Amino acid sequence: MKKFLDLISEEMKNAFEAAGYDRELGKVTLSNRPDLCEYQCNGAMAGAKLYKKAPIMIAKDVAEKCGENSVFLSVEAVAPGFLNLKIKESFVADYLADMAQAEKFGLEKPENPCKIIVDYGGPNVAKPLHVGHLRPAIIGESIKRIARYAGHDVIGDIHLGDWGLPMGLIITELRERQPDLVYFDDAYEGEYPKEAPFTISELEEIYPTASAKSKEDGAYKERAMEATFKLQSGERGYRALWKHIIDISVADLKKNYEKLDVEFDLWKGEADVHDVIPGMVDYMKKEGYAYISEGALVVDVKEDTDTKEIPPCMVLKSDGAALYNTTDLATIIKRMKDYHPDRIIYVADKRQNLYFEQVFRCARKTRLVEPETELLHIGFGTMNGKDGKPFKTRDGGVMRLEYLIREIEEEMYRKITDNREVEEAEARRTAQTVALSAIKYGDLSNQAFKDYAFDIDKFTSFEGDTGPYILYTIVRIKSILNKIREQDEALADKARIREAGSAAEKALMLEIAGFNAMIEESYKESAPHKVCAYIYDLANAFNRFYHETKIISQEDAEKKAGWVALLLLTRRILETCIEMLGFSAPERM
Ligand code: ARG
Repeated sequence: MKKFLDLISEEMKNAFEAAGYDRELGKVTLSNRPDLCEYQCNGAMAGAKLYKKAPIMIAKDVAEKCGENSVFLSVEAVAPGFLNLKIKESFVADYLADMAQAEKFGLEKPENPCKIIVDYGGPNVAKPLHVGHLRPAIIGESIKRIARYAGHDVIGDIHLGDWGLPMGLIITELRERQPDLVYFDDAYEGEYPKEAPFTISELEEIYPTASAKSKEDGAYKERAMEATFKLQSGERGYRALWKHIIDISVADLKKNYEKLDVEFDLWKGEADVHDVIPGMVDYMKKEGYAYISEGALVVDVKEDTDTKEIPPCMVLKSDGAALYNTTDLATIIKRMKDYHPDRIIYVADKRQNLYFEQVFRCARKTRLVEPETELLHIGFGTMNGKDGKPFKTRDGGVMRLEYLIREIEEEMYRKITDNREVEEAEARRTAQTVALSAIKYGDLSNQAFKDYAFDIDKFTSFEGDTGPYILYTIVRIKSILNKIREQDEALADKARIREAGSAAEKALMLEIAGFNAMIEESYKESAPHKVCAYIYDLANAFNRFYHETKIISQEDAEKKAGWVALLLLTRRILETCIEMLGFSAPERM
């Protein structure tokens, strides 16, 4: 289906043409003055210069040509030359009726669907998820779902941090504590045990301990670097230990991401491209892209048009070891080979912006990607506490994600059971569902690159621009529909969208009509916050309509059936949108 605004613009363009002006002037936009009109066209203002005519004259000519038509209820030329537009109720109703029937509400399929990889999450193994992992998971998941809904072929890849010094540190600390483990026995040739010699909680303690030691003790750090090198060179025992670290961590990560309703198609990591690195390095050297600078292997990536200093991209450290850049570049090679994506989106902290700029330039310059392959960094800001400083626990530590989620769930549970009889199991379930909406909406409703304050009181509120408010609205619609079904089982079958009978009803219908344009924009800009803004407006429009309209007690069955159709459509659209944001609605709350 064509987008609603495009259909209106088309009609306006015809009027411009009929009046003897360039039809391209007929572009229509949402009204800046909702008190005066629903849409507006500023084409006459733009045309004034072109035709050396007062804009109001042009606007009047155009308005006159609008005469009889099926789209506009009124077209008003107002000083100094705006065209104020109102839409016919029948036109809106027909459009919504088509939306209700169409697949994906009439969203057009992309002409050329893209293959997209979203690289998000990016946790490092052997460390528990903490609040810093919340944003990449939530934002990445939503970007993935929006692109998928928009009709593209999307792969989500977690890109684990599972290679490099942290692994060497863990191995070194283990060796210190349990030197007799078979993994450290060079003479051992048998199979290694299936069971890991540590649990996840032990692992979570080992890593920070080792990391702290290495900062104080130079020799310890040396040993860790050597262990890293041995691991990367393929030493059997170290590889076996490393595999245990990965398996234990991944099982724990899966559990935690599942709680967030975040799901990856690929659980690849930095280590997966280890074998790609030597070939890549050879190639970069041979083609003359890479050279040795102060011992390290680098590729120049600065460009003449740069206004700031862009340092060379380091491909290997001076000791020959791979680094963060190395694995990211090699991952690009692997992704191009395995999936041939049109676009790779990296959802990572905005402070890594320069880093990604270097990596992208290096990949382009060395032709790891095709000229038309898009590499995009969606950099997100910091999640702060209410005090505007990075979010911390009460005693100043980094909060585990699990604990944060639990805290919000408890708060939700309190609200749900406050002064009400709710069955315990249902209350817990509902609390979980609503808590997830509070966390995700609280994050996604902000533009990703902005810092935001994690404010539990605000996020869990049932009023205002929050997840629970959206869910509350959906639950309200469900409950009205249920009541009507109890009154008259058959009414739903007679439901069809009718012309609006009130201003509030029309406003709701016009919000719905904007769905397709909103999806296209959110996809194009990888901007979940636009979905949030849309459903907030839609929920507000619905609630205004609800407060003004006696739906359940309406006697006129035709009218009532019309509202049922409108409610069904509103509910379906809200549910589709929250699905894209990564949460769902309960039956009751
Ligand atoms: N593991 C990285 C970190 O902790 C984030 C990974 C982002 N993705 C990437 N391809 N570099 O900072």
